[in-house]
Amino acid sequence: MRFSTLPAALLACAATRVLADGAAIVSAIDTISSATTTLNNTITAFPSNPLLALGDVLPLLTDSTALLNDINAATKTAQSSANLTTAEAFNVAIATLSLQSTVESVLDNIVSAKSKFDKLLIVSPVVLLNLKLEKQATDKFAAAVVSKVPAALQSTAESLITPIDNAFTAAIDDYE
Ligand SMILES: *[C@@H]1O[C@H](CO)[C@@H](O)[C@H](O)[C@H]1NC(C)=O
Ligand SMILES: *[C@@H]1O[C@H](CO)[C@@H](O)[C@H](O)[C@H]1NC(C)=O
Repeated sequence: MRFSTLPAALLACAATRVLADGAAIVSAIDTISSATTTLNNTITAFPSNPLLALGDVLPLLTDSTALLNDINAATKTAQSSANLTTAEAFNVAIATLSLQSTVESVLDNIVSAKSKFDKLLIVSPVVLLNLKLEKQATDKFAAAVVSKVPAALQSTAESLITPIDNAFTAAIDDYE
């Protein structure tokens, strides 16, 4: 009993560790998604009257910075992850698809909000800078994840990222 229990426990432990890597990436993507939604709410709440908007600039910066930090943390998680199994890669793909629709929706909202931001001189340039930083950080995160995906699935993984990348490029073009 003793002898058979120990290896079983070790095996369970090893399996959990490998699963935790894929799960850790999914959880990091969920964190990014929720930071993106928080930023979205702040953007929606941003008043169109510039006299009322000053107090909303700081939350906008705070939420953007929090999002950037979450993306950078996710990159570290992906970099320190073991190679993903096919099942883990599948779960990461599902989370990425969900993130894709969230990011597209929020970038649409950011583009629509430009006329509000333009009324306060510094806001639009800061939003533009943040969009560029977030795109860069997202590209790094995507590269880190793709490198952990089984080789046969890597081009599929890249194709899941392309729409997010394109949405960033379009939003950046609108702000430039
Ligand atoms: C972002 O905000 C807009 C405007 O309120 C809303 O239509 C959209 O559903 C929101 N997207 C997300 C992902 O919360
Ligand atoms: C992880 O996968 C890559 C190919 O995608 C391979 O080059 C590398 O050797 C693998 N690493 C381990 C530890 O299996």
